[in-house]
Amino acid sequence: VIRVGEVWVGAGVRAALAEVLPAGVRRVAVVTQAGLPSLDVPVEHEVIAIGDGESCKTLATVEELCRRFARAGMTRADCVVAVGGGMVTDVGGFAAATYHRGIAVVHVPTTLLGMVDAAIGGKTGVNLPEGKNLVGAFWPPAAVLCDTEMLATLPEREWRSGNGEMAKYHFLTGDDLLALPLEERIARSVAIKQDVVASDPEERTGARATLNYGHTLAHALEVAGRFDLRHGEAVAIGLVFAAELAAELGRIDGARVGEHLAVIDAYGLDASLPSGLDHDELLALMARDKKALGSLTFVLDGPAGVELVTGVAPEAVRAALARMAVRP
Ligand SMILES: NC(=O)c1ccc[n+]([C@@H]2O[C@H](COP(=O)([O-])OP(=O)(O)OC[C@H]3O[C@@H](n4cnc5c(N)ncnc54)[C@H](O)[C@@H]3O)[C@@H](O)[C@H]2O)c1
Repeated sequence: VIRVGEVWVGAGVRAALAEVLPAGVRRVAVVTQAGLPSLDVPVEHEVIAIGDGESCKTLATVEELCRRFARAGMTRADCVVAVGGGMVTDVGGFAAATYHRGIAVVHVPTTLLGMVDAAIGGKTGVNLPEGKNLVGAFWPPAAVLCDTEMLATLPEREWRSGNGEMAKYHFLTGDDLLALPLEERIARSVAIKQDVVASDPEERTGARATLNYGHTLAHALEVAGRFDLRHGEAVAIGLVFAAELAAELGRIDGARVGEHLAVIDAYGLDASLPSGLDHDELLALMARDKKALGSLTFVLDGPAGVELVTGVAPEAVRAALARMAVRP
């Protein structure tokens, strides 16, 4: 077992639930989805399954959860345990953040992406029809149990999606995560994210925004919605796009763009754009990104490493999009 702060990584660490539940918890609401690996809960509990997919990541689901908590008699001394991928930990965490103005939450991520990213760092939230993750709260979990045995049933495509976020950490630190065995790879990713989050817990200084590397285009592709991309697959495309944009702005050279392509390939991902994209639509979506404070804003590589860059000219963005390979 590897411990990174309140995060436990290892085969079988779900058995530590009794140890990590906050003192005094009498009842637990397990928020999960149908068909996911189950969990032994050492206290009185109720299992609540929510729907699958981004279309269920809504305020309506949060209302349903909070009503179930109320009917189960949950008090401020009780605890939510979210067992699932990032969708479940985001929604379950947000319900915990708001029920009775906040009760404890423990995350038990069941996807690679959840373990290396979504369950770490305390961001929770839901989507609106106007965009992804537009409503949420910072609500740090009491503990996170990354039990690699929970990944036994994870589909191939979800593994790849998790690799997309890991490729991001590769660029933030230069670490060759692929060289590490799975548990260490997860623990190292967690540590990288925890370090960045600790330096800027509520995203006030720009440091935490670097975790959004590759995400501006990724979110636009996901919101445009027609492309059937998993989050990490979209991030992989977004990372290479960010490199092309940085090159367009003279911040990095062609060799560094090539490194981005090689790393994405090594992590088993496809960096080319889906075909049939409307670049005007992507530009409009990227201008609405949460990082954008009045101008096109990206996280870009450069001489000083990866940093937040504001005031990017739309022409540069168009040129970078035009440089990208397109899927047949
Ligand atoms: N809060 C954050 O900091 C943060 C960071 C990154 C992503 N996210 C959010 O995370 C979400 C994506 O998370 P995700 O990629 O884990 O997707 P997901 O939670 O939608 O899970 C993907 C699919 O895998 C299934 N699944 C989960 N665990 C499984 C298992 N062990 N075996 C078999 N099937 C399993 C799920 O039911 C689902 O169908 C997005 O909503 C994204 O916005 C949040």
